[in-house]
Amino acid sequence: MKGHKCPKCEWADGNVKCRHWQSLRRQASIIDDWPYSAANLFSGYLNGRTSNNWHMNIAVAVDTPTLRSLCLAALAEAEIDHKTAFVRAIDIAALPTGSESLLIELANLPGRPALPALVSPKEAPRRSLGSVEGRAALIHALSHIEFNAINLALDVTWRFSGLPDAFYREWANVAQEEAHHFMLLREHLSKHDHQYGDFPAHDGLWEMAERTKGDLLARLALVPRTLEARGLDASPAIRSKLAAAGDHKGAAILDTILRDEIGHVAVGNRWYRYVCRERSLDPIATYARLAEQYRAPKLRGPFNREARLAAGFEAAEIDAL
Ligand SMILES: [Fe+2]
Ligand SMILES: [Fe+2]
Repeated sequence: MKGHKCPKCEWADGNVKCRHWQSLRRQASIIDDWPYSAANLFSGYLNGRTSNNWHMNIAVAVDTPTLRSLCLAALAEAEIDHKTAFVRAIDIAALPTGSESLLIELANLPGRPALPALVSPKEAPRRSLGSVEGRAALIHALSHIEFNAINLALDVTWRFSGLPDAFYREWANVAQEEAHHFMLLREHLSKHDHQYGDFPAHDGLWEMAERTKGDLLARLALVPRTLEARGLDASPAIRSKLAAAGDHKGAAILDTILRDEIGHVAVGNRWYRYVCRERSLDPIATYARLAEQYRAPKLRGPFNREARLAAGFEAAEIDAL
């Protein structure tokens, strides 16, 4: 570890007086489930031995170890195993949320691996579910949605300050559930002799995150209440296709995901209504305006009315789609 400097303050070799080093030590004890030993973490930090900008991620996280700063660091992490382990190790209940802190956006968000290649929706592969390869392509597409969903939940947690603590804890919990979904699907994909990254994928989910990064209300309206809610509608048909093709394990994974996704859309609805109340806005008229302003995809039925009602949509909102 000789000859390396702390990337934050230039203290050489983790001098004990370096507050980042000390903070890192505290951080390692906050995350007791950490999959890498504290010693590895320290040496990786100092050596800049990184996947992407690992030392920067850690430096940001430990500078102010709060729920929000850890979510930002996890969002920036590009290596999949680091990212999922990081997300799942965050102690949501114990950490201070840092609700008022203004965090600096890191470059190259979200961190993601070099593969899958991102293509336009038209170029994304569509294959018949009659073949193993076709089912693998579908499971890959679902894995990619869940990978994006991890990033979306981390992003809404770190990006918007000044909200009640419950806002941050609920979204960080969503991020952990998305990481679980991703891992279930990735494991299932491996049974089809493929891994995440093997097929091209499209980036529509993150594009909407980019478009709405300046306004929390637009983010809530168009990401959880539009794109995630669309997943509720799509799930039953995909589930029955998998079951019909004999993929009962895949169908069972979709059941788990649908159950959790109803909860995610409910979190989106709860906080959308909260911000509408704060700004004295009518939720239904405001949704129509934001969908137009941000060019939300036009939703097409059939709608999963039961799941949408369970996720906190009102009947009038479903009728207005
Ligand atoms: Fe999910
Ligand atoms: Fe979700």
